[in-house]
Amino acid sequence: MKKTVRDIEIKGKKALVRCDFNVPLKDGEITDDIRIVSALPTIKYLTEGGAKVILMSHLGRPEGEPNPKYTLAPVAARLSELLGQEIVFISADTVVDEKVKEAAAALEEGQVMLLENVRYRKEETKNGAEFAKELAGLGDFFVNDAFGTAHRAHSSTAGVADYLPAVSGFLIEKEVEFLGNAVENPERPFVAIMGGAKVGDKIPVIENLLKKVDTLIIGGGMAYTFFKSMGLEIGKSILDAENVEFAKGLLEKAEAAGVRMLIPVDSVCAKEFSNDAEHAVFAREEIPADMEGMDIGPATIELYKSTLAEAKTVVWNGPMGVFEFDTFAKGTRAIAEALAESDAVTVIGGGDSAAAVEKFGLADKMTHISTGGGASLEFLEGKVLPGIAVIEDK
Ligand code: 3PG
Repeated sequence: MKKTVRDIEIKGKKALVRCDFNVPLKDGEITDDIRIVSALPTIKYLTEGGAKVILMSHLGRPEGEPNPKYTLAPVAARLSELLGQEIVFISADTVVDEKVKEAAAALEEGQVMLLENVRYRKEETKNGAEFAKELAGLGDFFVNDAFGTAHRAHSSTAGVADYLPAVSGFLIEKEVEFLGNAVENPERPFVAIMGGAKVGDKIPVIENLLKKVDTLIIGGGMAYTFFKSMGLEIGKSILDAENVEFAKGLLEKAEAAGVRMLIPVDSVCAKEFSNDAEHAVFAREEIPADMEGMDIGPATIELYKSTLAEAKTVVWNGPMGVFEFDTFAKGTRAIAEALAESDAVTVIGGGDSAAAVEKFGLADKMTHISTGGGASLEFLEGKVLPGIAVIEDK
């Protein structure tokens, strides 16, 4: 068990808190603030308990240079609205400078300050000790609540813990509880749904989950690599040629381990990659040479739905088709709806599957939606995430 903010004296102390405010922006406007909203419980606990709160985050990849395109100013404004209080925000090119140090030292109990994008500094992504020391100098203790960035060993996610006592915030605590319990202590049947374009990206997670699940469901672009490994023709569908052998081995491994592995039985194929493309449903043995797979077909949807109806724990990572195009979103939507109706524990890995559930308006029907894309994937791979490893044990 890791220490949390509950395990440390906070009143009158300066809390240096790493959040993941890496939010999507369009024309300077935040288009999805879920990562900011998810950080609020920790921030409020600290302000209400009389701490002086100094928040830090990255935004995008400014490559170690100050760049107004990546300023955290819009986040400061949104945060201030959500908290209903003014946020001290100093946009320093070096993130920490004399003005920032003075402002941090002058904070009163319950006040909140946000530093500028930590990736304005080259040292950040190299976990540079000097930068970590500068950041640590601002606080009395370190709170990591940036689950989405916990797979990065950077100055602000890991390095600072060399100089300050380190505890977790409530978001990391919740993510670890839901993702961890789902995988290590699942109520059975335990079903994992893996989708997305490339098998290669999901090899470690599939290998890890294969040891734990009762059923593994495959969908999305990666299904065509499985078809190929079964000796089927896939037309112009996406192929991860390097991993055909891996896919074949996986089918054999699953059989040996007694894991039921479900591969689509039919597919919606299109003449071209567009929402308006001419399209039709084909059995997996009959994909035409001039068409490409875009979604799972209706027979597959029924098969997957009936499997999910029996499940008691479901972990989902990766869409079933090109859900960005409404014409080819049916498979992904059907899975999202099946999970929304289910009374199983439903855990959605971040990234595309989280975006899909959000797009269909079903987010509040899931047990847990991770705020981490890469981080949740690495967690499900069974890796120790550096941003979590640095948090002190109880
Ligand atoms: C994410 O969005 O996955 C995290 O914020 C990490 O961002 P990064 O991939 O740029 O490190």
